[in-house]
Amino acid sequence: MNKTINLKNEIRIIEDFPKKGVSFKDVTTILKNPKALKYTIKEMSDYIEDKKVDVIVGPEARGFLFGVPIAHKLDLGFIPVRKLGKLPFKTHNIDYDLEYGTDKLEVHIDGIQKGQRVAIVDDLLATGGTALATSRLMEKVGGEVACLNFVIELTELEGRKKLKKYDIQSLVNYKV
Ligand code: PRP
Ligand code: MG
Repeated sequence: MNKTINLKNEIRIIEDFPKKGVSFKDVTTILKNPKALKYTIKEMSDYIEDKKVDVIVGPEARGFLFGVPIAHKLDLGFIPVRKLGKLPFKTHNIDYDLEYGTDKLEVHIDGIQKGQRVAIVDDLLATGGTALATSRLMEKVGGEVACLNFVIELTELEGRKKLKKYDIQSLVNYKV
């Protein structure tokens, strides 16, 4: 039954959001549809399952939406990566390139154990800046990035070029 879903049909496109010229891929329409949500979590979990992963990591905020149910399905824990100042305990951080300037991403110092194999989950691979910073943060704290997993990839933004050394899965591709 799951296999009948064409996930592209379940993603709402909103033109000129959040600014003119951007074709926004809205995953809230996946989240509200039980069949589409189940399919997405199953497909991403199936890919991660044979990568000998110890923990699921997701960057704020939309990475949480898919990362936690995948962790639950695979009987793994979930570790959040958040923007600066959001995590309450002591953190490690890494610089993160934005369109203008930089920010930092953080993880709790006891989030990842040395040598743990990490699967990073997010809704979207665009320029790859978020995924690269999250991957580097995982390596900085002693983790090993087993795979990067996205619902959507915007291929013309060439995020994969930044992430050549990693194993990447995406379920649905758009040019931009
Ligand atoms: C969006 C998206 C990815 C990232 C992809 O997050 O959820 O995390 O951009 O873009 P990139 O490949 O160019 O880094 P955003 O920072 O807009 O915030 P949110 O997840 O908190 O909504
Ligand atoms: Mg995000």
